[in-house]
Amino acid sequence: MSRRYLMCRPTHFAVDYAINPWMDPTAPVDADLAVAQWTRLHELYLSLGHTVDLIDPVPGLPDMVFAANGATVVDGVVYGAQFRHPERADEGPAYLAWFERNGFQVHPAKSINEGEGDILLAGEHLLAGTGLRTELAAHAEAQELFGRPVITLQLVDPRYYHLDTALTVLSPTNVAYYPGAFSPGSQAVLRRLYPEAVIATADDAAVLGLNAVSDGHRVVLPSAATRLARELASKGFQPVPVDVSELHKAGGGPKCCTLEVRA
Ligand code: ARG
Repeated sequence: MSRRYLMCRPTHFAVDYAINPWMDPTAPVDADLAVAQWTRLHELYLSLGHTVDLIDPVPGLPDMVFAANGATVVDGVVYGAQFRHPERADEGPAYLAWFERNGFQVHPAKSINEGEGDILLAGEHLLAGTGLRTELAAHAEAQELFGRPVITLQLVDPRYYHLDTALTVLSPTNVAYYPGAFSPGSQAVLRRLYPEAVIATADDAAVLGLNAVSDGHRVVLPSAATRLARELASKGFQPVPVDVSELHKAGGGPKCCTLEVRA
């Protein structure tokens, strides 16, 4: 139940470029509010009994707050990120250096992958997104490195550019997802693997409600996702809403800000 997370304070947060459809560099962003909302999320994890490590934010990397993209960590093995867009390229080495300093065995990536944005541990296997950011070759690399089966899922909607914008791992055996973000074949795979899944609506997805962090029971999710929260509660989960309106302007939510460190 108690988890270890890595987060990055949004000290240098901004929407200076657009690499997903949510980002509008001409729209105002309240940087102080972003820090306040992130601080609330950080405190929330501590109050839920989780451990949170912090990585120093690097000037000039406005998206570094999205720690989930920094690496994938399973069984103490760290698979580095290699970003698709040059704007975020320097985040990969920054996160790897943090893990190295903290005594982890690190593996720089040979293929483009955006960490836990697209590679999610679900029980014994990994669910991995491709089609928009992470390339297919990274799925094979992750399977070989972690020695766990990787299930490839094709993302088809640019608004749901990372797997963690379209699917939440709720427990080792269940997920919530928005079918419209996936190809027909991947929808069929998800139905087969998770007959009991929580199915999110287009509205749940559009507020990035699926960008949520579950510890198996409590699910931290954007406060705008009110219908999804009710649905999760009806399935026995405890929704914990958090306001992330400023981070949403970069296309992010609670899960994007949270990298799980599985030592
Ligand atoms: N602006 C960032 C990007 O487009 C947001 C990343 C959100 N992170 C995530 N895990 N979905 O790359």
